[in-house]
Amino acid sequence: MTFERATRLTQLPPYLFKEIDRLKAEVAAQGVDVINLGVGDPDMPTPDFIIDALDKAARDPQNHQYPSYSGMGSFRASAARWCKKRFDLDLDPATEVVSLIGSKEGIAHFPLAFLNPGDIALIPTPAYPVYHSGTLFAGGVSHFMPLTKENGFLPDLNAIPEDVARKAKIMFLNYPNNPTGATADRGFFEQVVAFAKAYDIIVAHDAAYSEMGYDGYRPMSFLEILGARAVGIEFHSLSKSFNMTGWRIGFAIGNEEILDALGQVKANIDSGAFNAVQEAGIAALESDQAFIGAMQKIYEARRDVLVSGLQSLGLSPDPLKATFYVWCPTPKGMSSAAFTALLLKECGIVTTPGSGFGEPGEGYVRFALTVGTERLAEAIERMRKLSFS
Ligand SMILES: Cc1ncc(COP(=O)(O)O)c(C=O)c1O
Repeated sequence: MTFERATRLTQLPPYLFKEIDRLKAEVAAQGVDVINLGVGDPDMPTPDFIIDALDKAARDPQNHQYPSYSGMGSFRASAARWCKKRFDLDLDPATEVVSLIGSKEGIAHFPLAFLNPGDIALIPTPAYPVYHSGTLFAGGVSHFMPLTKENGFLPDLNAIPEDVARKAKIMFLNYPNNPTGATADRGFFEQVVAFAKAYDIIVAHDAAYSEMGYDGYRPMSFLEILGARAVGIEFHSLSKSFNMTGWRIGFAIGNEEILDALGQVKANIDSGAFNAVQEAGIAALESDQAFIGAMQKIYEARRDVLVSGLQSLGLSPDPLKATFYVWCPTPKGMSSAAFTALLLKECGIVTTPGSGFGEPGEGYVRFALTVGTERLAEAIERMRKLSFS
């Protein structure tokens, strides 16, 4: 018997990080001591106070039943309070916050709420792959907005053809940005709101890295912009902020009607995040946030070692003020795939080829700051034997 996959699956590019995991396993199986700077998964543990909250909540039988579809009221209230403290947003937890089983879940399901077959979603490229795969799954068509160095890795809204803008239903954005590490300022978000209003486009801003800002930089929420709540929503994640990638917890905030539609999709697909995990999320959000400050210091130190190390090798990564990704141009004349393969084969270093995030990422490699400073220094030493001239 043959099992022919649905077109929606055959249309997808191979999931980038699955491929990286495979390559890593292959090299590790040869006995190489691999330094993994590939997948953006924090290497440090979830703090004890969050684990303790899970432990307690997991023992409460009330938490063993199906969760509420849109999330526990208390989790949504904590998320709203956190957004008030962090961004000065006033959100009604009952209607303007929805719990997610990690922000990836919400992002992937979101296009199902608004795209009919053939409808256009505006998607940055290079980008986190789920904006495009979610669009494909909904039968939508991705119109890619290139992020280039010349534009500060921000999409050029004026370059979107008028007929495409008129037909587009959703615009995905992500700042601080994966994979480029770029940030967006108020002026850019203001342009986005005006554009969305002019063309009736829903803005879905992915703020998964909002807490990873360095040297005192605090990324803003898109919803801080006047009029943003009339046009969009924002995805938040506890994954990177509190080292909780495996726990699967995040939330979406913003426009009530848009979130209601997302909730309708979710109610028909999943049954919400485990209540005990939401309780642990409450502990994280209600904490004094000292943990986040401490993590920022750790990533700053790692960034300094990697960026200065790469510079000492003659490479030119941009200075990084947010996310834990160093987006580095490849040595002259070398493709992303060739450089990634060289680093893996010759140095046992796993990185991600920029081209895997989309064609304009060609010519770059992404290094994730997911090992300590000593290992990063070792990675640089291993690379020293390569000649980049
Ligand atoms: C840009 C971006 N958005 C969303 C996510 C998903 O995060 P999670 O589902 O763990 O909340 C990631 C994960 O790497 C990401 O890089």
